[in-house]
Amino acid sequence: MDKVGIGIVGLGNISAAYLKAAQNFPVLDIRAVADLNPDVSKARGQEFGLRAVALDDIFGDPSIDIILNLTIPRAHVEVGLRAIEAGKHVYSEKPLGIAFAEGKRLVDAAAQKGLRVGSAPDTFLGGSHQTARHVVDSGALGQIVGGTAYFMCPGHERWHPNPGFYYDQGGGPMLDMGPYYITDLVNLLGPVKQVLGVATMLRQTRTITAKERAGEVIPVHVPTHVAGTLIFASGAVVQVSMSFDVAGHRHLPLEIYGTDGSLIVPDPNHFGGQVELLEKGGEWKNVATDQPYWDGNFRSIGLADMAAALVTGRAHRCNGELALHVLEVMEAFGTSAETGKAVSMSTTLDRPEPLSTSLSNGQLA
Ligand SMILES: NC(=O)c1ccc[n+]([C@@H]2O[C@H](COP(=O)([O-])OP(=O)(O)OC[C@H]3O[C@@H](n4cnc5c(N)ncnc54)[C@H](O)[C@@H]3O)[C@@H](O)[C@H]2O)c1
Repeated sequence: MDKVGIGIVGLGNISAAYLKAAQNFPVLDIRAVADLNPDVSKARGQEFGLRAVALDDIFGDPSIDIILNLTIPRAHVEVGLRAIEAGKHVYSEKPLGIAFAEGKRLVDAAAQKGLRVGSAPDTFLGGSHQTARHVVDSGALGQIVGGTAYFMCPGHERWHPNPGFYYDQGGGPMLDMGPYYITDLVNLLGPVKQVLGVATMLRQTRTITAKERAGEVIPVHVPTHVAGTLIFASGAVVQVSMSFDVAGHRHLPLEIYGTDGSLIVPDPNHFGGQVELLEKGGEWKNVATDQPYWDGNFRSIGLADMAAALVTGRAHRCNGELALHVLEVMEAFGTSAETGKAVSMSTTLDRPEPLSTSLSNGQLA
């Protein structure tokens, strides 16, 4: 099988999940790793038996086709543009950037050079989310009316050893967790047309309780409770709430309602989970997941899909156009909150192709 050379930039918390899950996909050949902090890249390199190189050297390495950008959100576009300038494709952790304008700059720069941009989240490629997509596409829900999407927690300073970026420009619950929910919704329902939003910042500081820096107080620069309504081009209307201020709740992560049926979609922060369908007049029933990639952590499947697509020349699913649309939607919550008006999207797209049910783990087509 053809292999695609991967160079990883940014080796913090999430890199371990990528390095483990990438072993599921033979198309991925990780050839070097680098970080702003050379001690970090050296340690991760040793842990996974990979070549740690200087940041300046990874972009010029001729064995690397795709830069996998696992840096913090504020650095995503800067690192991505550097990769594009060096003639490499780039696949970034979410969000694509911290503002629509900079995300667009990256997507445009890549297009000019004939290079690809990919972006997390890739959980919508998980078997459960592909099953939900299959149910929606089958017409079992009738006409889609709308739905709900909820992520609400007390804040990541409870567990992340370095949580400052979640409360800095480019952080907040919408840019951090919104990508999972909104990407899954766009994959199910198509593009968003308009956004109505509100955003509040209830506290100026947060106290870290993760053991590494317990007791340290960090400043808050962004809204930490963001809510509103998505109006899809199809006419569907979805209520959204993303928060770092909520002690607990009992809403399900994603529900989709149609004139003939309702669907419970598992948490889009994960690949698996039980899809449930209620058909008009009936009871809730479990939907069998006849798809691969539902039982486990496949964080890197989006990168593997992009690598496999490069080999055959087809389109990749976790693409820059999708990530840019999602970024525009997320930014619109803030713009709408400031202006008190609905914000219309300038971007639109065709939904990514569903994965074939006949794939076995490690395969992508
Ligand atoms: N931590 C998680 O559970 C998690 C889950 C899903 C996605 N993510 C996403 O992954 C990304 C990274 O998160 P994390 O938790 O690993 O953060 P982290 O702070 O633990 O690690 C980020 C790493 O990037 C390096 N870095 C920062 N700027 C850089 C630059 N300009 N060039 C090179 N290296 C640079 C830092 O030195 C650090 O080692 C974020 O976009 C986050 O939203 C994190």
